Amino acid sequence: MSFVSVRNVWQRYGRRPILERVNLSVDKGEFLSIVGASGCGKSTFLRMLLAEETPWKGDIRIDGGAPAVEPNRERGVVFQRYSVFAHLSVRDNLIAAESFSRPLGRLRGAARAEAAARADAMLDRIGLAHVARQFPAALSGGMQQRLAIGQALTAKPRILLLDEPFGALDPGTRLQMHEFLMELRAETQMTVFMVTHDLHEGFKLGDRVLVFDKPRWDPDDPDLVGATITYDFDTSAGGIPFQDLLDRYPSLRAT
Ligand SMILES: Nc1ncnc2c1ncn2[C@@H]1O[C@H](COP(=O)(O)OP(=O)(O)O)[C@@H](O)[C@H]1O
Ligand SMILES: [Mg+2]
Repeated sequence: MSFVSVRNVWQRYGRRPILERVNLSVDKGEFLSIVGASGCGKSTFLRMLLAEETPWKGDIRIDGGAPAVEPNRERGVVFQRYSVFAHLSVRDNLIAAESFSRPLGRLRGAARAEAAARADAMLDRIGLAHVARQFPAALSGGMQQRLAIGQALTAKPRILLLDEPFGALDPGTRLQMHEFLMELRAETQMTVFMVTHDLHEGFKLGDRVLVFDKPRWDPDDPDLVGATITYDFDTSAGGIPFQDLLDRYPSLRAT
């Protein structure tokens, strides 16, 4: 049985269909890149995996069960805009992430000391030990995004959801983040869903590249149908069909 299974999922806001007939089976440890025109429902799809919203119709299963409502235990999330807390030091950002993932709220005593030790280990892992006492505003964009990823990984989630995580970074920093992410992934065997605007990034990092698009198009009523997965490419097969993709989906022109 697949680790993440999405069966005939539909979503709509009000009466407007956003997604329809979305079907997907994902194995544990797979890295899926998700591309598609702006506004087609990619973030909506991630929010359903996060259980932040429930599908209008259909069924999502993670390891055989419904996605848990509390964040972080099973899924970590990183958005394009840094989700770190400006008023906390780098180290306290990691400790705070851990207390949010616990139902009992704030950590005290021995539990806090253990959380602090784990935060220090994570600081080493994400290369931020030397700035542990600084505040996020003092860090570069890449460092802030490493901190956000460190936060998401603090609870050792089995699934990492990345919503255009590197879009705000300069090209050099983005390449460093790619290496960092691939290292983390090799260590943890996480299952990753990454939405990206950048086709090259999607093909480079993903085991599969999914395109979300509307299966039909009515010029008189563009909102008539929702988007679905219209393309599911296995990158291990080699040979990247960039031109084919760009011809079929002009809105995907890589940035
Ligand atoms: N909570 C909401 N209520 C109503 N409309 C929404 C809501 N969230 C997103 N939308 C609309 O749904 C569509 C899909 O949004 P989104 O999933 O954010 O697209 P993407 O991430 O692919 O750019 C957009 O047209 C957006 O304006
Ligand atoms: Mg989005």
